[in-house]
Amino acid sequence: MKVLVTGGAGFIGSNFVHLTLATRPDAEITVLDKLTYAGSLASLDGVLDRVRFVEGDVADPELVDGLVAGADLVVHFAAESHNDNSLDDPAPFVRTNLLGTFALLEAVRRHDVRYHHISTDEVYGDLELDDPKKFTEDTPYNPSSPYSSTKAGSDLLVRAWVRSFGIRATISNCSNNYGPRQHVEKFIPRQITNVIDGVRPKLYGAGLNVRDWIHVDDHNEAVWTIVEQGRIGETYLIGADGEVDNLTVVRLVLELMGQDPDAFDHVTDRAGHDLRYAIEAGRLRTELGWTPRYGTFRDGLAATIEWYRENEAWWRPMKEATEARYARTQQVLAR
Ligand code: NAD
Ligand code: TYD
Repeated sequence: MKVLVTGGAGFIGSNFVHLTLATRPDAEITVLDKLTYAGSLASLDGVLDRVRFVEGDVADPELVDGLVAGADLVVHFAAESHNDNSLDDPAPFVRTNLLGTFALLEAVRRHDVRYHHISTDEVYGDLELDDPKKFTEDTPYNPSSPYSSTKAGSDLLVRAWVRSFGIRATISNCSNNYGPRQHVEKFIPRQITNVIDGVRPKLYGAGLNVRDWIHVDDHNEAVWTIVEQGRIGETYLIGADGEVDNLTVVRLVLELMGQDPDAFDHVTDRAGHDLRYAIEAGRLRTELGWTPRYGTFRDGLAATIEWYRENEAWWRPMKEATEARYARTQQVLAR
């Protein structure tokens, strides 16, 4: 099977490439990636000789058309992915997330290629801390940020192309991922690399916000399950019942790294900060038989810490610029 993976030099996409080559050796992979600040060829270390790598923009219709024409399957990970950046400058989010998806949809329509769209639970907005309900496939869209609204818009494009043009597409909306090769701008790797650097972790506000953590390999196995067994036109939520509040995550990172669990700073909160995400993944589990294979969040986090300790050469080049960007907007409010 010829698979076009967009965003395959980013966090989840590169882990998808590694996992696919390990578990589905017949797959012929082409990666399309613009290598923005978030993409790195080093994320494909060890497999670059087994994939065709194309540096380019997913919002370039001609380039995309040629690549899609030669594929049996497109898995679309490429996106601008960080909420904080989207609050600073929404323009690349609108371009990549909306126009990039549009270019792919038109190409898969022309060439009748199977398409899987990677999205996020953030399209549903947020939940109250004490709400017994979780997000389901029927939760109304209510995105909060330029990031989540452009992802929501891209999902709606996919649904319309399925209904109006009959493209063969599925959508997955996953909760927060953690694991190796995640950019140090994101919550967990930022804190791990801060501690390695002797800098105190930075918690937004009081840290009561809850995220539903899933290991990136569990996410990517679920994507393959949907590609291989999912119903065309369907949306599947992906989550592993991993709700943890941010304060607990920071304290756990510190504890696992041998530090005082209270040695963190409270910094300026994010504007419009979503309170809680929680996924009900019943459709994926009962219809398609998927279950997460990773153990506890604590074990997964310990393994992730180990990866960052052993792979400083991977993250060091991006650390300084990331912290300089945060320093412009975030102040320490309390220790
Ligand atoms: P990432 O920022 O780590 O990687 C994005 C990749 O896309 C990078 O390699 C970047 O170079 C590439 N890219 C950006 N703009 C491009 C363009 N115009 N053309 C081609 N390539 C471009 O993101 P990630 O965390 O790996 O997220 C991947 C996908 O998964 C996104 O669609 C995101 O919305 C979705 N998602 C992420 C999470 C999460 O927790 N990280 C959870 C659910 C869904
Ligand atoms: P993030 O990794 O940016 O993912 P998302 O915004 O998609 O959920 O942030 C996860 C949570 O961690 C979110 O509630 C914001 C919070 N956060 C911090 O408390 N400190 C930080 O330094 C960062 C980057 C995020």
